[in-house]
Amino acid sequence: MRFDVITLFPEMFSGYLQQSLLGKAIDQGLVDIHLHDLRQWATDKHHRIDDRPYGGGPGMVLMVEPVVRCVEEIRAIGDEPGQLVLLTPQGEVLRQPVVERLASYRRIILLSGRYEGFDQRTIDILHPLELSIGDFVLNGGEVAAMVAIDAVIRLVPGVLGDEKSCIDDSFSTGNRLLEYPHYTRPREFRGEKVPEVLVSGDHAAIEQWRREQALHRTQARRSDLLED
Ligand code: 6GU
Repeated sequence: MRFDVITLFPEMFSGYLQQSLLGKAIDQGLVDIHLHDLRQWATDKHHRIDDRPYGGGPGMVLMVEPVVRCVEEIRAIGDEPGQLVLLTPQGEVLRQPVVERLASYRRIILLSGRYEGFDQRTIDILHPLELSIGDFVLNGGEVAAMVAIDAVIRLVPGVLGDEKSCIDDSFSTGNRLLEYPHYTRPREFRGEKVPEVLVSGDHAAIEQWRREQALHRTQARRSDLLED
């Protein structure tokens, strides 16, 4: 699966890309990530990519021409235009069903913005899928783009060592429960003990306990997940 990321801050991605899971997936050829510095598509001699908003107001707006030219040029690389995703707080909120849909594409082009955002004509011309990662404000779309990549590549066959581990995950299709609590050694720490059932060896009892815990947690913390 190929990702092209268009950003004013490509250096923000280097630590993330070196992370071991992703590094291995890249080495194995399962995932291929290309970074593109939007400033290279600036059309004037000062390399400007933003300008003041028509109508006034605070902040700057990303100019339509560099962004549209950049996306068109990058789309033309390779034999498949791919799905264009624009990261914006105005977008549809990224949830697991959207992640699953994104994982079905062979190529995704991610456009991360800064400042007050994109000139509306960028969206009207390019028709991207507009995505947000939640109801809070970030300084730019870069972290959101990494979130989207991270969620999607987990679903690419071979990226996770153990294929089963993502099927059981909270929010995956067919599972709308939060996870049950996990424990490892030691059996006791500062008086806090591992629940007896987990060391009982009774697998049926363990499964039932975990199911109950997952339900209780979901009810207490995210009752919205139980509604539908
Ligand atoms: Cl995609 N961008 C920005 N700037 N803020 C956000 C976001 C995206 N998603 C949630 N908050």
